[in-house]
Amino acid sequence: MRALILGMDGYLGWSLACALSDRGHEIYGVDNGSRRRLVKESGGTSATKILMYEDRVGELRRLSKGGVYRETFDISHDFDCLSAIMKGFKPEVIYHLAQMPSAPFSMKDRKHCLWTHQNNLFSTLNVLYAMRDQSRTAHLIKIGTMGEFGQPNVPIPEGEVLVEIDGHRDMLPFPRAAGSWYHQTKVHDTHNIRMACKIWGLRCTDVMQGVVYGNKIKEMYEKPELNTRLDFDQYFGTVINRFIVQAVLDHPLTIYGRGTQVRSILPLQDSINCLGLIALSPPAPGMYRELNQFQEYKSISEMAHIVQEAYYELTGSEPKVLHYENPRQEKEEHFYKPMREILPTMGYAPSERIEQVVRGMIADVIENKLFLSKYKKAIIPTAHWSGDKRAIQELRN
Ligand SMILES: NC(=O)c1ccc[n+]([C@@H]2O[C@H](COP(=O)([O-])OP(=O)(O)OC[C@H]3O[C@@H](n4cnc5c(N)ncnc54)[C@H](O)[C@@H]3O)[C@@H](O)[C@H]2O)c1
Repeated sequence: MRALILGMDGYLGWSLACALSDRGHEIYGVDNGSRRRLVKESGGTSATKILMYEDRVGELRRLSKGGVYRETFDISHDFDCLSAIMKGFKPEVIYHLAQMPSAPFSMKDRKHCLWTHQNNLFSTLNVLYAMRDQSRTAHLIKIGTMGEFGQPNVPIPEGEVLVEIDGHRDMLPFPRAAGSWYHQTKVHDTHNIRMACKIWGLRCTDVMQGVVYGNKIKEMYEKPELNTRLDFDQYFGTVINRFIVQAVLDHPLTIYGRGTQVRSILPLQDSINCLGLIALSPPAPGMYRELNQFQEYKSISEMAHIVQEAYYELTGSEPKVLHYENPRQEKEEHFYKPMREILPTMGYAPSERIEQVVRGMIADVIENKLFLSKYKKAIIPTAHWSGDKRAIQELRN
């Protein structure tokens, strides 16, 4: 299969490239290096040692069973380059991961909100237009987020739901209720892609993905040159990844609010397995298909507890937990029941237990403890999503 991976230098994009290339697929990656730049500007770094984009692509090419190509440019600006790649490479699958993925970053201020909208919305619109003109039959696999749905007081379905108003019935999209400007860009994307499928006959799977944790997939074992990044700063670290590095740095695990908020989560290995499976079952031309992608759901406190236990088991010391004022605007006690029925029909089965993944992550990150200790400052949240300028306080019981 010929796969175009937009955002190939990122956390998921690089892992996907390693997996597809190992299976003998031909891959073409595009990235503009913005993730590396933004993490650096936020005072963070990857907790795993990673090669520069061009060097890691060189390593992958050396190990690869299919071809590996790459370009560096911004897909939200450089439409001509994107079109030319689609025309020349003729991808069968286009994985679109090239977006700014941080909710707190998008909530910093007006400038960050606008930039996130421009980057994320323009990138998707450019992909859709380039597909219309050069790659109409390719399968677009777009990564959305479970965060598009917010915290509804009913189960979260996959795709459309039956709605009856005044005796009239129709299948309609399930309402979105994002809680950050970043998530809102994903909501806009969902509507834009749905329309492009309808008017241009494109086919797309829009993947509503939960929060991913983990630092490696099986193709990376014993190959540190293929490491993917692992961030832990307040903007780009996702919850379990952040807790792991906090534990290793002898920093209390930072829980926002009571910690009773629930999130859908999945290991990196499962995320990549699913993206591979989805490509094998493309929707029909003109079809917009939506599915939920997660392994399980847990509260933030439950996740912290799993990291505490694993860390204690491996090192004999238990990290503390520290509650902070919640910078987010969200319900802390809420109903949560997302559905996940489509992926198992494509062959998805959970690969690893969370405890096992967490233990492996701790063992890997602990090797870099000394180097990481100078980045501790990047951990603490500083921006209230309400716009309040006060510092975020620790909560004492
Ligand atoms: N990691 C998660 O837990 C998670 C959960 C749900 C959804 N997602 C979504 O999955 C996708 C990948 O996430 P990730 O964690 O790998 O993020 P990431 O930031 O590591 O990867 C995105 C990559 O795209 C690149 N990029 C961004 N804008 C670009 C542009 N305009 N042109 C070219 N390249 C650009 C970045 O440099 C980065 O390397 C994102 O769309 C994200 O919103 C991630």
